[in-house]
Amino acid sequence: MANQLNKTILITGTSSGIGLETAKIFQNQGWNVVATMRNPDQNSELAKLPNILCLPLDVTQTQTIQTAIDGAIARFGTIDALVNNAGYGLIGVFEACSPEEIERQFATNVFGLMAVTRGILPHFRDRKQGILVNIASIGGKMVLPLYSPYHSTKWAVEGFSESLHFELKQFNIKVKIIEPGPIKTDFYGRSMTVSQKPGLTDYDDYSNRVLPQLQQAGAGSPPSVTAKVIYRAVTDGSWKLRYPAGGNASLLLTLRKFLPDVLFHSIIKAGLEREAAPR
Ligand SMILES: NC(=O)c1ccc[n+]([C@@H]2O[C@H](COP(=O)([O-])OP(=O)(O)OC[C@H]3O[C@@H](n4cnc5c(N)ncnc54)[C@H](OP(=O)(O)O)[C@@H]3O)[C@@H](O)[C@H]2O)c1
Repeated sequence: MANQLNKTILITGTSSGIGLETAKIFQNQGWNVVATMRNPDQNSELAKLPNILCLPLDVTQTQTIQTAIDGAIARFGTIDALVNNAGYGLIGVFEACSPEEIERQFATNVFGLMAVTRGILPHFRDRKQGILVNIASIGGKMVLPLYSPYHSTKWAVEGFSESLHFELKQFNIKVKIIEPGPIKTDFYGRSMTVSQKPGLTDYDDYSNRVLPQLQQAGAGSPPSVTAKVIYRAVTDGSWKLRYPAGGNASLLLTLRKFLPDVLFHSIIKAGLEREAAPR
């Protein structure tokens, strides 16, 4: 049965973190929520809530995308908004990443996001409306060391989304790019892969100093902060494209925009590349 608001959102990667909190906030605000995840059996929390339909969707498995979209429309009639949230981080020394690891990183964060977008656009075009929300990162506009695979994917998401917004406007389809800063989620645990190549030791000194700081959210925000920004992006009625979202994202992106490279990089180095304390 449809709810009073009669609006439906489909979200990818709702098993934890930002996706889970986003599902909860929209459900709480009276939306129908299609909460998709690779293994929906694992999330009984969402399945217990009214107006939530939990469906399997692996963004790297094209057939699961269409099945989920069809299932959502069969249950709720329409889909008003899509949040492309699923993603993970491959980090570490580039030389230590195998081509397969990099392909997998792009298969999820970029090609998966594009595949779900491809799946929903005919529905949005037919209806002459729709809101496409892509979760990028401040890491799609600025970079940290030892994050080259992940940054490559988020810069791709930024470019893809910004270019898409021109061609979709004629169909009244809005594109929103969410740019979270550090957010305390499983991203820094089970959703982070650190590349390793046996025998490659030349980078060890640098890696050992920098990596541990990259593997924690530090003073990050809780995922609910980002979920609230996503809710605002979907409901504010504007054509605004970008939304920094928690973890000092606005400050960091402003510094990145206005400081020359050399100054911005010196801040990154001062924060991350400190020499080990002398013994
Ligand atoms: N946390 C941060 O600091 C931060 C900052 C900027 C951007 N982001 C972005 O925010 C998004 C959500 O991350 P998070 O921080 O909430 O981390 P998270 O709690 O680890 O959530 C990641 C979600 O993506 C899902 N996922 C991974 N591969 C998938 C696939 N092939 N198909 C479908 N779902 C898949 C995971 O599902 P499983 O349970 O099946 O693994 C999980 O639900 C990501 O795109 C991430 O890059 C995070």
